Amino acid sequence: MCGIAGYLGPKDAAQVLLVALERLKYRGYDSAGLAVSEGGSLHLRRAAGKLQALSAKLDAQPVSGHCGIAHTRWATHGPPEERNSHPHLSYDGRIAVVHNGIIENHAALRRDLEADGVRFASDTDTEVIPHLLAKHYDGKDPLQALLRTLAMLEGAFAIAVAFADRTDRLLAARKGSPLLIGRGRDRPLRPGTQERQYTDGGTPWGERELLIASDLPALLPHASEYLPLEDGEIADLGPHGVRCYDFRGERREPRWRPVEITASAVSKGNYDSFMAKEIAEQPEVLARLIDSRLRDGRLVQPDLGIDLATIRHVVFLACGTSWHAALLGKRFLENLARVHVEVDISSEYRYRNPVAAGNTLVVAISQSGETADTLAGLRLAKSKFLPVVGLVNVVTSTIARESDGVLPLLAGPEIGVASTKAYTAQVMALYLFAAQIARAKGLLPHDAEDSCIAAARAMPDLVARTLQLCEPSVEECADLYAAAQATVFLGRGGEHPTALEGALKLKEIAYVHAVGYPAGEFKHGPIALVTRHLPVVCICPRDAMYEKMLSNIQEVKARAGRIIAVGDGADRDLRDLADQVLPVLRASDELLQPILSILPLQRYAYRVARLRDCDVDQPRNLAKSVTVE
Ligand code: G6P
Repeated sequence: MCGIAGYLGPKDAAQVLLVALERLKYRGYDSAGLAVSEGGSLHLRRAAGKLQALSAKLDAQPVSGHCGIAHTRWATHGPPEERNSHPHLSYDGRIAVVHNGIIENHAALRRDLEADGVRFASDTDTEVIPHLLAKHYDGKDPLQALLRTLAMLEGAFAIAVAFADRTDRLLAARKGSPLLIGRGRDRPLRPGTQERQYTDGGTPWGERELLIASDLPALLPHASEYLPLEDGEIADLGPHGVRCYDFRGERREPRWRPVEITASAVSKGNYDSFMAKEIAEQPEVLARLIDSRLRDGRLVQPDLGIDLATIRHVVFLACGTSWHAALLGKRFLENLARVHVEVDISSEYRYRNPVAAGNTLVVAISQSGETADTLAGLRLAKSKFLPVVGLVNVVTSTIARESDGVLPLLAGPEIGVASTKAYTAQVMALYLFAAQIARAKGLLPHDAEDSCIAAARAMPDLVARTLQLCEPSVEECADLYAAAQATVFLGRGGEHPTALEGALKLKEIAYVHAVGYPAGEFKHGPIALVTRHLPVVCICPRDAMYEKMLSNIQEVKARAGRIIAVGDGADRDLRDLADQVLPVLRASDELLQPILSILPLQRYAYRVARLRDCDVDQPRNLAKSVTVE
């Protein structure tokens, strides 16, 4: 977690960096800061709390300059106070560092530095880095100082470094945590000359402006090309452009790629929050995804470098919402492709000694592609020679790069911390992947493939109509139950993951204690929680479990629980049982019904959060991309 940024160019660095932090704040938002190098000094501004606090500080005490670094923090070492905010300065004030990740040997390094008389100003693991850099910096060769420092650090990190005596130089390094370098367009030549046009009157920053960021949206709108740093790589940014090195100082050839997303993809548009925008985007996201998996009306076999016909076992690795999608992936693969599936929480898998049976495919599911636990699980699987496919939204991510094959979600940037459009895209991608495997195994005859495709293709429209249809009832329920202390979500079969996901949404953004449970298991203990004050959301579409689910609802009703049912709005039996119904349309393949059932629950969590005055895009204590263990 944490987001880092850097800027070197003709524009006002502080302004560019503030916008970059705005785009990175989903990675952490408990404090923020920046340092600008100007006139032989590093000008530091930091503030605890949300980014507005830093912005207000900059209004009161502006900094000018063209070279700087910045950070938005999700606290790991030390509470979110100003003194623990980044950038951290070296003891002599000559060097500033921002860091994402954890320096595992910081305690030993700190002891050694303190024994040498260095006084620490923060509780962070990060602060050892600027002090070590200062010890190694002779005032001439910043790169050498960085190489010597990196040789002493253990753990995962992405760092950016600025120097008081260099207004034209930034350094960046990556080991484990993501980091991108961006560069702007080449400047135009003056007509009739070979000279470039500089509105700023000089060339101190080279021919193109240069940027550093944890993620692509933060390079916008300035960068036209980007370079994802590999693990163990350094970037040296200066008038010479960008030079890359490994941690021994050997040159590496940078491979630039065009920036293909636009600034509008990372703005809220007419919505009051990214979450609201991302919920509304789901029809178009699904349509794009389905199109990408079809050619001439048939499923395309994905080019993963793996023979899908030979797969006998699949292991899904995922965290959070992605884990809920994986639970549905298991149903799809079992039903369509008759493959044995295990679903593992990444942070558990990585510390087990999993059996690496033959013909096993590991699928790492991650919106961000950077979740540390999922990445570690992927690496463990690879160390056992298992093929790994990454199902990711961010295709420039580490998980995408380290996987043998990639299944992209194509959902566009997801900024709201609570995952919505990436979840429904994951579910659809897993359905289509299961169908692709089934076809490769000869288990999906032409007509069955046609029905899968037709069912998938109908979903974008069903999603759009369900979002409209359910909204009035969602509003009514949110008004009624926003003050409830707790909420239970029940579902069976494919709607059990929906219950888990509905509960997670409400916990994440509205801070309501919520639990998702398989409805058939509810009577074995948790039913003791039911009182007339407890809202119980019962997900009950007309699927194979419908009758069983009705009986489970009866059990709750008999104990006076408040029943909010998700199901067919015209279903008389359901209406008679429930206090309220959140209506959803019906998918033609019931395997896909959970995509529709989750929609009113996303909107419900959103509305309850609004009524409780919560920040839906940046809920407390969370971060979108969890790059620490
Ligand atoms: C964090 C987020 C969750 C997300 C989980 C997994 O905890 O707050 O919303 O589901 O990480 O993220 P991933 O990017 O791996 O899907």
